[in-house]
Amino acid sequence: MKHVLVTGGAGYIGSHACKALAAAGYVPVTFDNLVYGHRWAVRWGPFVHGDVLDRAALDAAMRAWQPVAVMHFAAFAYVGESVDNPGRYYRNNVAGSLNLLEAMRDARVPHLVFSSTCATYGVPRAVPIAEDHPQAPINPYGASKLMVERMLQDFDAAHGLRSVSLRYFNAAGADPEGETGESHDPETHLIPLVLDAAAGSRPHITVYGDDHPTQDGTCIRDYIHVSDLAQAHVLSLRALEAGAATTAYNLGNGRGFSVREVIDAARRVTGCDIPVVIGPRRAGDPPELVGDATRARSELGWVPQHADLDEIVRTAWHWHNYKKY
Ligand SMILES: NC(=O)c1ccc[n+]([C@@H]2O[C@H](COP(=O)([O-])OP(=O)(O)OC[C@H]3O[C@@H](n4cnc5c(N)ncnc54)[C@H](O)[C@@H]3O)[C@@H](O)[C@H]2O)c1
Repeated sequence: MKHVLVTGGAGYIGSHACKALAAAGYVPVTFDNLVYGHRWAVRWGPFVHGDVLDRAALDAAMRAWQPVAVMHFAAFAYVGESVDNPGRYYRNNVAGSLNLLEAMRDARVPHLVFSSTCATYGVPRAVPIAEDHPQAPINPYGASKLMVERMLQDFDAAHGLRSVSLRYFNAAGADPEGETGESHDPETHLIPLVLDAAAGSRPHITVYGDDHPTQDGTCIRDYIHVSDLAQAHVLSLRALEAGAATTAYNLGNGRGFSVREVIDAARRVTGCDIPVVIGPRRAGDPPELVGDATRARSELGWVPQHADLDEIVRTAWHWHNYKKY
């Protein structure tokens, strides 16, 4: 059996990737310090409690499991916090990734799939955003991910370590079989916050600005189902194993939904009233972020299976109601 080391495998997207890896015949070995992840989310393979900043722990995991590849989800991902405390982000996301790459180089692990982000593009000049759009991040979080993309090119040139960087748009939804889902604390993502408001565990949902230059004045984002993201990781791994060159792909549905449309979808799916409060715009919030994922579709053969917004919200609502944790 082929082992794949999954850093951050106890987190939201990482746990869905572990499920997809297991279904594809790999053994996912989760390497996570549980700073934000959950032990209950590790269900599809062994668990190593470790920190990517701990080089000895990485070396020990490489020796013990001899992975054929690494999927690297471990990172901090709160944009606002990265502005207030950039050092925390550069240390964990950049220094942690460098540690991992050096451990892979020394253990001769040849392939990596990396969680990058649309935040590396900054404020888009045009939408939908294709991979060749200039990368000009406007916060330390996006900058930390772009630095890793750059390191990946250099590690390929120098050491032949080939990688795929996957630039996700907004991950959303939960495992359709209800085996794992989103559980962030603090939660900042729109859909779980809207569902909290539907369930009454939050008094309302705050919409940051209804005067953006969009059709209904609220921000437009590209929501991509987390299981579709997970599948793209498996396809990327297979492409690397078949000899693909180092590259980056956008992962999105290519269709944007406004905050109001998401709230309306949540009203339809839950049947609940969802109180809305309009707040001020947030600094640095682009009005529209939509990804062009044509290359992932044509080169990886990736076909998102859960592109419908109501279905995305339905899987999240199911998880929200029935999660056992
Ligand atoms: N959620 C999104 O919409 C989104 C969008 C674009 C990119 N991403 C990226 O995808 C990845 C996963 O995001 P997520 O939403 O699943 O976040 P998450 O917080 O649920 O998962 C991250 C996991 O990494 C672990 N971790 C963090 N630092 C670590 C360290 N030093 N050592 C070991 N483990 C560590 C955490 O405990 C957690 O389990 C992140 O790299 C994030 O930047 C997420």
